[in-house]
Amino acid sequence: MAVVLVGGEGTRLRPLTYTTPKPLLPICNRPFLERQLLWLASSGVDEVVLSMGYLPDAFKQRFPDDRFGEIQIRYAVEDEPLGTGGAIRFAAEGATGTFLVCNGDVLTDLDIRELLKVHEAAAAEATIALTQVEDPSAFGVVPTAEDGRVLAFVVKPPPGLAPTDWINAGTYVLEPSMLERIPTGVTASVERETFPRTLESGGALYAVQSDAFWLDIGVPRQFLDAQEFVLDGVLGFPPAPGAREQGEGIWVQGDVDVDPTARLAPPVLLGDGSVIGADVAVKRSVLGPGCRVREAASVVGSVLLDGAQVGARSAITDSIVGSGAEVQAGASIGEVTVVGAGAVVEAGTAMLGARVLPPGVDEAAT
Ligand code: GTP
Repeated sequence: MAVVLVGGEGTRLRPLTYTTPKPLLPICNRPFLERQLLWLASSGVDEVVLSMGYLPDAFKQRFPDDRFGEIQIRYAVEDEPLGTGGAIRFAAEGATGTFLVCNGDVLTDLDIRELLKVHEAAAAEATIALTQVEDPSAFGVVPTAEDGRVLAFVVKPPPGLAPTDWINAGTYVLEPSMLERIPTGVTASVERETFPRTLESGGALYAVQSDAFWLDIGVPRQFLDAQEFVLDGVLGFPPAPGAREQGEGIWVQGDVDVDPTARLAPPVLLGDGSVIGADVAVKRSVLGPGCRVREAASVVGSVLLDGAQVGARSAITDSIVGSGAEVQAGASIGEVTVVGAGAVVEAGTAMLGARVLPPGVDEAAT
């Protein structure tokens, strides 16, 4: 059994997450969560509890039969956000055997079986996957002994003062006894409270250093990077369900309509029903199903979600255009601008690093 934590509001990916919870946002035209379920299934997981709070109905609609392939899905819906620790306790209450927990916003192919092997061999109460990053100062840093025993938890160490550059990768193997270490009725963070307290009280905590691919998709820049990594085959090929390679690094799903004068520079993924007009340039980008890019526009290093529309002579650079959103003629957006679902960037506007809210969302009220 695996608990996948999908209850966060994903504030750093706003305005996209006002309408779609982070785990259901697509990475190369497949909801991120489905990629994560495939990863879990490949390690033999056949039961997943989605630990949710924010926009729970969106998940239930996505899996109407409570199944994804071989995986049986259960839902644990919190009335109030319980934090990562509280959420684990709530979702896994009553578990009788070893179980997995993973954050619902990390794209990885780390080796779950290896994690389970170490956990078992060490008779650990919890075993944490670690990944190595260049700058650990924004993360939970986990120094370990030679045999993998966790020595400390250091949260967001000042730059240059981290004891190691191995950080908590957000994937854990837990014994049911860990649940009793999490208080009920209050919010609790597993990484900041439960694990450090378990260590203080002498619990057997182990960690496994993994050099597998690992990327937190929870900020717009990394959400864009994730698309390109997947396009480049980090999770294997094809990069999206049913995609066919029509030229080197040019992937197409279903039927698309590309004007012969359009230039496509790899890697590119075009979703079913996308329409690309004359003299358009598309480079290092993903277009969701039903997107339309009109003549002489350019889309570079960007992601258009399903049904997004780009007007003539517009320039979209390193940006994300939400579902059904519209960038009108002659507008230019860049430097990780994020356009919410259904939002409109007016003709001729120029925006850098902007957030464009979906209609009806009042940021001051959230
Ligand atoms: P930000 O608001 O941008 O920080 O994103 P987030 O809300 O997802 O928070 P964060 O990235 O710290 O959360 C890590 C993982 O835990 C994500 O997969 C979240 O969905 C999940 N998560 C965070 N808080 C809760 C919670 O209270 N309940 C549940 N069920 N999951 C949570």
